[in-house]
Amino acid sequence: MTSKKQSPTPSPTSLPWTTTENEKYSKTRGSKFSSINFHFKCFLLFLVSVTSWFLILFFFFLIPPATNNPKHHPHRTKYEPNKSILVYHDHHHQRQNHPSEDVSVYIYNLPPEFNLGLLQDCAHLNVYTNMCPHVVNGGLGQPLQASPDQDPDSDAGSAWFATHQFIAEMIFHARMENHPLRTWDPSRASLFYVPFYGGLHASSKFRERNLTARDELAVRLVEFLRRQPTWRRNIGKDHFMVLGRTAWDFMRSDGGPDFGANSLLNLPRVQTMSVLTVERNPWEKKTSQHGLPYPSYFHPSTSAQMLTWQTKVRQSDRPHLFSFIGAPRKGLEKAAVRDELIRQCGESTRCELLQCNKNDGNSKCYKPSEIIRVMSRSQFCLQAPGDSFTRRSTFDAVLAGCVPVFFSPHTAYTQYGWFLPDDPEEYSVYIDDERTRARMVNVEEELLKIPRERIEKMRNTVIDLIPRLTYKHPNASEEDDGGFRDVVDVALDALGRHVRSILDNK
Ligand SMILES: *[C@@H]1O[C@H](CO)[C@@H](O)[C@H](O)[C@H]1NC(C)=O
Ligand SMILES: *[C@@H]1O[C@H](CO)[C@@H](O)[C@H](O)[C@H]1NC(C)=O
Ligand SMILES: *[C@@H]1O[C@H](CO)[C@@H](O)[C@H](O)[C@H]1NC(C)=O
Repeated sequence: MTSKKQSPTPSPTSLPWTTTENEKYSKTRGSKFSSINFHFKCFLLFLVSVTSWFLILFFFFLIPPATNNPKHHPHRTKYEPNKSILVYHDHHHQRQNHPSEDVSVYIYNLPPEFNLGLLQDCAHLNVYTNMCPHVVNGGLGQPLQASPDQDPDSDAGSAWFATHQFIAEMIFHARMENHPLRTWDPSRASLFYVPFYGGLHASSKFRERNLTARDELAVRLVEFLRRQPTWRRNIGKDHFMVLGRTAWDFMRSDGGPDFGANSLLNLPRVQTMSVLTVERNPWEKKTSQHGLPYPSYFHPSTSAQMLTWQTKVRQSDRPHLFSFIGAPRKGLEKAAVRDELIRQCGESTRCELLQCNKNDGNSKCYKPSEIIRVMSRSQFCLQAPGDSFTRRSTFDAVLAGCVPVFFSPHTAYTQYGWFLPDDPEEYSVYIDDERTRARMVNVEEELLKIPRERIEKMRNTVIDLIPRLTYKHPNASEEDDGGFRDVVDVALDALGRHVRSILDNK
């Protein structure tokens, strides 16, 4: 089941719109030159307008009123000249647009066996695949080739990486190390981050038969925490952990079938902490598990790189009404809808199907460039549950400006409340999965019913969501960046509020 979630092994490869793809791309849409010319003009216009806004704002805000608060970054809240292009834009998360000035995060210096030490045996971190290529660059993985979306004046290197889907815990850690809200003084911290690479460790032990041995490291971690004076202060309620795998991999149940999970999340001390995980248990009564977006492939350092990409996907031609990327799942009730979707997509002239073959690691559907290319040419991207409810593919779709279509509320709606608008209809389509499975729904007909204006509105919302669903490059410098707030920024804000409310209500 969930713990067996197969990991695609994306190979370092060329990016969306390499030369050949670009040529193929333009053949289907008439004159290549007129379109480039048009895009170039748009870009120039855009550049001029951004530059003038920048100058205005520079004189307006960056000669700031004196402030004594070293954490105060005026540009982070005020730098939004044009709401429809700038990235803060999303009125549903107004409260999250104002970074908590009073959040500061202390990072535990854990013994290496809990994080970096694990990487020494990277070839055995996952029983299905060699993780060595994926753990480099702070967990971003291997860089993809330079891409046309790059800021032409930037030497910063590519922002695109073949990032593994289950590596969020490493990227989060790398990003926290340089984060402006980090404090080295535990007495000033409002949040305590425990940088345990629990997902990587769990996947190295899926086949460990000895349950004591499988749980050993988690038990030692809790022992380590228990001894810390900082833990005792609030008995761990202001502590958090980040897990790059689904919660199911850490919730082994007695008596149930053994899928390889350990018991990390069953440990009482871990349950008092907040846990960010790419898939939370949606039926959990307490609110200690919080959904965290899967990492996609784009890890820009600057808001200019982000804006360039957003502009590109806004302008992208989308000849396909919908697309599906995925493999059939044999014998899984939850995934039965997949087989039906693959059938419907295959039969529709309006659907682009990128079918994965489990035995073929080189299949196109594991190539980031191919995934992003197909999704940027589609209006809707079907997100059928696979081995578990959630999919990294949801975040690839958003990155490509493709409106996600969900078949289970647990693929996103009950998962990522901190990151997505409250109203699902603003950014996604929901189709009942039981009716689809029973072939009572024709997905193409459902999608054709949606008015053009609503599609465009949803797409704009999706594209506006890209920054907050992106993991910034860990070496991005906040100081000279115009301010786009990424997954980590949004998570820290929300965690800060969450922990404060817990401590206030005790
Ligand atoms: C923002 O920019 C867009 C596209 O460049 C433009 O259509 C819109 O009028 C601008 N809005 C404001 C408030 O300036
Ligand atoms: C960040 O910068 C440091 C120091 O220059 C470098 O060693 C490290 O590899 C960089 N990280 C990434 C992910 O590029
Ligand atoms: C299981 O693992 C524990 C801890 O590593 C060890 O002490 C114990 O002897 C093992 N049990 C068996 C039956 O191998």
